[in-house]
Amino acid sequence: MELKASQMEFTVAIDGPAAAGKGTIARALADKFGFAYLDTGLLYRAVAAKGGDPVQAAMGLTPQDLARDDLRTLAAGQAASRVAAMPQVRAALTAFQRQFARSAGGAVLDGRDIGTVICPMAEVKLYVTSSAEVRAERRWRETGGDLAQVLAEVRERDARDMGRADAPLRPAEDSVLIDTTELTIEQAVDLACAAVLARFPERTIP
Ligand code: CDP
Repeated sequence: MELKASQMEFTVAIDGPAAAGKGTIARALADKFGFAYLDTGLLYRAVAAKGGDPVQAAMGLTPQDLARDDLRTLAAGQAASRVAAMPQVRAALTAFQRQFARSAGGAVLDGRDIGTVICPMAEVKLYVTSSAEVRAERRWRETGGDLAQVLAEVRERDARDMGRADAPLRPAEDSVLIDTTELTIEQAVDLACAAVLARFPERTIP
């Protein structure tokens, strides 16, 4: 039976360290292919920002929690990576992410463990990275403050995310590596689009 693009399930998993450009690539793919987009980092940021017991916060997360305007700060990112190391917090957020990944018409999710743990069967897996210096400078342009401190925080968060026991950040074996250190946004998005197109069944290209 021929599937229409609007009916099919198609998951793009994007992982990588802080400020590598995952969100920019994910939004571009969502726009171009009509995929639903979930920024999974926002879930962990919202859990940490809610305060109280992180496991309870994760189990009771609401759309309003995700709409707070203080989730993008450096401090919120650091707090997120602390609660993200707790296996029960991760477990409480798994079902929602897996369900989202199977949205009709396709979905793109970005995070740290999407291709390795949440969606190991994803049709496309991208690992987006770049040097810590370049990532810190990009984040510093968004947040301001002291560049050296932003770099230190990026390194600290990378170490925590890569070193934790549960769902550590690492490339899935079958992921396509996109190193954005010397790429423009357009070049990085083009590589990501090519990886998606390579996996689209011929008759479903929108
Ligand atoms: O935007 P940025 O890359 O700086 O961070 P984020 O994607 O919003 O993630 C914030 C923190 O949440 C990360 O440092 C991770 O510790 C955690 N996280 C995770 O553990 N698993 C995910 N799928 C997404 C985020």
